[in-house]
Amino acid sequence: MSTLIEADRRHVWHPFTQHATERDPVPVVRAKGASLFDEQGREILDLISSWWTSIHGHAHPALNRALAEQAETMEHVMFAGFIHPPAAHLAERLAAILPGDLNRVFFSDNGSTAVEVALKLAYQYWRNRGENGRSGFFAFEGGYHGDTVGAMSVGRGSGFFSLFEGLMCTVHPLPYAPTWRGDNGGEEREAQALAAFAAALDAKGHETAAVILEPLMQGAGGMRFCRPAFLRQIVEMARDAGLLVIFDEVATGFGRTGTLFAMEQAGVVPDIVCLSKGLTAGYLPMSVTVAREPVYEAFLDASFDKAFAHGHSFTANPLACAVALRSLALFEEEKTLARVARIAAAHEAALERLGAHARVSHPRALGSVLAFELTDSVGSYKTAEGEALRDWFLNEGLNIRPLGPTVYLMPPYCISDEQLARAYDGVLEGLDRL
Ligand SMILES: Cc1ncc(COP(=O)(O)O)c(C=O)c1O
Repeated sequence: MSTLIEADRRHVWHPFTQHATERDPVPVVRAKGASLFDEQGREILDLISSWWTSIHGHAHPALNRALAEQAETMEHVMFAGFIHPPAAHLAERLAAILPGDLNRVFFSDNGSTAVEVALKLAYQYWRNRGENGRSGFFAFEGGYHGDTVGAMSVGRGSGFFSLFEGLMCTVHPLPYAPTWRGDNGGEEREAQALAAFAAALDAKGHETAAVILEPLMQGAGGMRFCRPAFLRQIVEMARDAGLLVIFDEVATGFGRTGTLFAMEQAGVVPDIVCLSKGLTAGYLPMSVTVAREPVYEAFLDASFDKAFAHGHSFTANPLACAVALRSLALFEEEKTLARVARIAAAHEAALERLGAHARVSHPRALGSVLAFELTDSVGSYKTAEGEALRDWFLNEGLNIRPLGPTVYLMPPYCISDEQLARAYDGVLEGLDRL
């Protein structure tokens, strides 16, 4: 039999990878808690929670059990015309923990499809109400919503997708107002962004279906935080102009920013919210797009034409739903938000040290996320300095993947104080060696 690397070299096509230049991937054979282990048993701390999904840590006994028990009972059933206990109970639970009347849960497979569903719901909502002119979307510079065509369109402001412009739907980009520790131009940046939104609403509001944004934290666009007050004002202005508001909480949901959902910190409720990643605690690909009652009601009619004609083979997969339900119960059993608060306090203390380093600018932390920019490093997804750091971190047993010039930590909530200390020391040493 071939080794992992031989099989990989011959047959595998990895995501976000230039195979002509990238070195071999790390063969990982086991994972537990905050750690990954390679074939030789070498430990690598998973400081970005395997693309931000593994919230409680890898191979959690309670989640393993929930998955195995569901597999013994029923692995899958089609979801048109059928309902099953894990999906029914998960939908009920999500409606209970989401604020306001975000009550109608549409299941799909990943963050991108959750966003596709949200965009299509918003588009059809207006058509079902006889307003056919509302077709476009407002989205923010630096926003990222996934890699499918609709998600790329609203994520065009991330700068990752210029090659695909020809495939995209109509999106009007809006300036964002990022902030960080010690930022003293924040209010002016917000005022400018809000004035630009007001002008965009005047010009294009009547032909726009919705505004979409990642509340409080733009993720893949560079861990850019905004103040809750900015978020609140965007929502108010969108509502005054009659637009639907879509929150993409794919990355921010399930405790990442310190509250169960980031929107809670701004006290605002969107018309539609997208959730994935932490939904199944990193176990299985699943997402939900949750709509408020008035959105759902616009799809009710004697005619099938007004129904939402969308679905996937694995919609509401029972295994994924069972794990998601168990993960939500863990938030209470393990006092998960207190764990996030402990990480947040450690991040704040670490920022004191990191912020003083000559290679660090724009230091910032929110909930379980710590981030900063590398000084003298420019670029988007890849930069020479970011790549050099990534390699050095991996050699030191730390999985930290800078997003271009942005270095960040987003650990599983089970990470220990000792593991966190190892991460901060590693980051500082990596910066020294840069
Ligand atoms: C905010 C946000 N939305 C959507 C997505 C896309 O999710 P997926 O990669 O599961 O398709 C991501 C992925 O990083 C994300 O951060």
